[in-house]
Amino acid sequence: MLAKLRSMSVVGIDAFEIGIEADISDMMPSFAIVGLPDGAVRESKERVMSAIKNCGFEFPSRKVTINMAPADMKKEGSAFDLPIAVGLLIASCQVDIDKPDRYLMVGELSLDGSVKRVKGMLSIAICARELRCEGIIVPRECAEEAAVAEGVAIYPVDSLTEALAFLQGTKAIQPHHTDLKALFCQARHYAIDFKDVKGQEHIKRALLVAAAGGHNILMIGPPGSGKTMLARRLPSILPDLTLDEALETTKIHSVAGLLDPRTPLLATRPFRSPHHTVSDAGLIGGGSYPRPGEVSLAHHGVLFLDELPEFQKNILENLRQPLEDGKVTISRAAMSLSYPARFMLAAALNPCPCGYFTDPRHKCSCKPEQIQKYMARISGPLMDRIDIHVEVPALTYEELAQKQPGEDSASMREKVAAARSVQVQRFKGEKKIFCNAHMETRHVRKHCELDGPSQELLKTAIEKLGLSARAYDRILKVARTIADLDAKPAIESSHIGEAIQYRSLDRKLWLGG
Ligand SMILES: Nc1ncnc2c1ncn2[C@@H]1O[C@H](COP(=O)(O)OP(=O)(O)OP(=O)(O)O)[C@@H](O)[C@H]1O
Ligand SMILES: [Mg+2]
Repeated sequence: MLAKLRSMSVVGIDAFEIGIEADISDMMPSFAIVGLPDGAVRESKERVMSAIKNCGFEFPSRKVTINMAPADMKKEGSAFDLPIAVGLLIASCQVDIDKPDRYLMVGELSLDGSVKRVKGMLSIAICARELRCEGIIVPRECAEEAAVAEGVAIYPVDSLTEALAFLQGTKAIQPHHTDLKALFCQARHYAIDFKDVKGQEHIKRALLVAAAGGHNILMIGPPGSGKTMLARRLPSILPDLTLDEALETTKIHSVAGLLDPRTPLLATRPFRSPHHTVSDAGLIGGGSYPRPGEVSLAHHGVLFLDELPEFQKNILENLRQPLEDGKVTISRAAMSLSYPARFMLAAALNPCPCGYFTDPRHKCSCKPEQIQKYMARISGPLMDRIDIHVEVPALTYEELAQKQPGEDSASMREKVAAARSVQVQRFKGEKKIFCNAHMETRHVRKHCELDGPSQELLKTAIEKLGLSARAYDRILKVARTIADLDAKPAIESSHIGEAIQYRSLDRKLWLGG
């Protein structure tokens, strides 16, 4: 006898329907899964066999064939265990279910027949909603995550036995609902705030400018000056996520299996800080079982590279594609996958190997050539994409001891939001440009015109400070953002003056000018 069921598989961050057929024929006992199954799918035989036995049924000792369609798409993961087990029980006439393909089914089985969570549940539920499917049977652990999709009935089950009882009509299960709006509002809160940072007003201002224009930022400072502390707070001043952005970021974390069941929706901007030993696949994504990398986990948030010179140059150079296109494409034998990766880059480094080159209170023990070598490790193409560099000074005792709290994240976020709304108007007709940092040369020419005094100031800066040519466009873009923060339609010389300050590395002798 033949049973037909419906399940789902995730490719990239989107789910696709998979048809599952179970056939049993009176021939020598054997078990085959066809339709490009991967290792985890092939192993489902063992899990399904034990689960069926431990739920009080018999595993058919005849020829069993499981076919998964479409045949040319690679099937990965353990989510097909549940439909395979149900299909086998129907095909071997041990249960009688009318129209088993009414529902979609996903779930990994453990040997005792309980149903375990699967990755990518949100993508699966969104796809089920688009297919206008009657409902979807999911592991209870993932019900909250699935219900975020809204508009499709989610039936949570704990075990194979419960799924069978529901399908046979002997047990009613209430569809799982979640109040998405309430969940979204509740989860929007950041645990850390800029008001915890003492002093460092100049750096806070630079971070505000960076957030307002979507500019990538680099902080240089001695150990303990608060670089990591400051960068961690960056997401809290970026504009609030919209629900669509939150869903997109959640999908990526769900596919990577990183979603905490207690927070089924990521409503705050992510902050990712990969260690400098991160592999290519870890940073960009991919691997033999493709997973989104750190750049995608940071989608709509901040990617922080601490101790920048410690990262391998070739790994950092792979950041070019995501920084330019807002996505990464991973080529595999049969197809290419793409993951969204639109993030703001923040990076930090010490000014020299010992860390104290710019700290007046410590003596630096590095030789000039050691410092040059250390700085030369930073990838040039990456530096070309960083608009703002600032030096973070070590705090004085007076600053550390001060009790007065600084400006908080909420008020900084308001300023950022106001400046961003000016940019939304400015780039209305443009396709890929959302903020000043994305401007190309022609936009810079159009939107960053300078009056006489500003031109003069920039000319002097370039000539006297020895700023490099690459600094020119970047200063103009950043000045545009500062003017937007100031609610001024034209760039003024004070804006240019401030933007020039944010090019520390161009000025320092240790980079060779
Ligand atoms: N401006 C500040 N206000 C309050 N606390 C601070 C400040 N700067 C540093 N600290 C304290 O110092 C600790 C170390 O700071 P942090 O780790 O951010 O420094 P860092 O510059 O990243 O150092 P490293 O170069 O060693 O990574 C913080 O956890 C915080 O407690
Ligand atoms: Mg640090």
